[in-house]
Amino acid sequence: MEGPCDANERVMALSSCGLETEFCLMHRIVVTGGCGFIGSNFVRLMLETHRELSIVNIDKLTYAGNLENLADLSGNDRYAFRRGDIGDQSFIDTVLAEAPVDAVVNFAAESHVDRSILDSGPFVQTNIVGTQVLMDACRRAEVPRYLQVSTDEVYGSLGAEGFFTEETPLAPNSPYSSSKAAADLLVRGYVHTFGFPAVITRCSNNYGPYQFPEKLIPLFISNLLKDEAVPVYGTGENIRDWIHVLDHCRGIEAALLRGRVGEVYNFGGRTELPNIVLTKTLLKLLGKGENLIRYVTDRPGHDLRYAIDCRKAEEELGWRPQVRFEQGLQETIDWYLSHQDWVARIRSGDYLKYYEQQYGSRLA
Ligand code: NAD
Ligand code: TYD
Repeated sequence: MEGPCDANERVMALSSCGLETEFCLMHRIVVTGGCGFIGSNFVRLMLETHRELSIVNIDKLTYAGNLENLADLSGNDRYAFRRGDIGDQSFIDTVLAEAPVDAVVNFAAESHVDRSILDSGPFVQTNIVGTQVLMDACRRAEVPRYLQVSTDEVYGSLGAEGFFTEETPLAPNSPYSSSKAAADLLVRGYVHTFGFPAVITRCSNNYGPYQFPEKLIPLFISNLLKDEAVPVYGTGENIRDWIHVLDHCRGIEAALLRGRVGEVYNFGGRTELPNIVLTKTLLKLLGKGENLIRYVTDRPGHDLRYAIDCRKAEEELGWRPQVRFEQGLQETIDWYLSHQDWVARIRSGDYLKYYEQQYGSRLA
């Protein structure tokens, strides 16, 4: 059985080559959850920037998985889609047996805090059990590299001061973040026990194109485009650090290539904003009045503040967030403006039922 050191030596060997050379060594990767928000941006970015790379996308197509997000790749012979569950052992074994795989990047997850409060079952099943089944399949297939896409929410909540570093103890506060933290601990245990060649990334709140309109930014933009009110939880004082999805994807790319086995890398956008400030910015950019703000009952257990220290990723991986928030937000608004059909199709499906359940009784 290979130990963590052997795996690290191989990564160091990869790292001593140039970036292009590094990726020449990766011909075929499996991405899970590639039909979701971040996964679809990652698949598109990697295929555009690495001409020799093929990607197999495994996705269960839950309410958040949308084949339309990668419709532009149909006919691309470097892209293949396999519908299935990361928790389905024989399905994953079959996909990994199709051809040798250089790396697996696990985006697949239930990702919305509010849904985890309504029903944590799918979060435990996919985020924890799914990660375990996927890692065991990778071990059987001797996949040489595994990247677990995690979140800063595993660190819990900050007060007015301080930042999350990779050394901050895990203290998750929601069923969602608890399930992500449990998965991170399983990854850690697999690295330590089996020399499993895994790297973990933890990122702050993403925004950008293709985000499902249940998260704050796309929900508020799509409501405002229809002159509908925006539901601000509590007083709107909660602070999030916003990062453009492509900066996150470039961070995952860097960690996949240069991250050391067993290490965690934080990514953030250095853009901390109270929700109410972000809400008023969106209103202004969309030319709407503050009469559209609705303060609603707060989310139970609502984390006050997230803020990331991402110096380790900057120093070790040579990564930096590149997208200025003002520019990224305007571009995101423009994307939703020109993709109103995309939003409408989502909203006419299951999303409407969920929307009713979530907000029906909460409007203050
Ligand atoms: P998303 O909800 O938009 O997409 C999740 C995708 O996973 C969907 O395509 C869904 O169909 C798929 N999926 C769900 N369960 C599955 C299963 N059992 N088997 C196979 N596929 C399954 O999520 P996202 O916002 O793109 O987040 C992707 C990852 O990044 C998640 O692991 C999330 O925890 C993490 N993350 C997200 C953010 C953020 O701001 N959105 C920040 C940090 C980390
Ligand atoms: P969200 O986009 O759900 O991301 P997360 O909970 O993972 O940080 O929420 C971002 C912030 O916006 C969070 O503080 C909760 C708040 N929020 C609202 O005020 N209203 C809403 O309708 C939503 C979805 C979120």
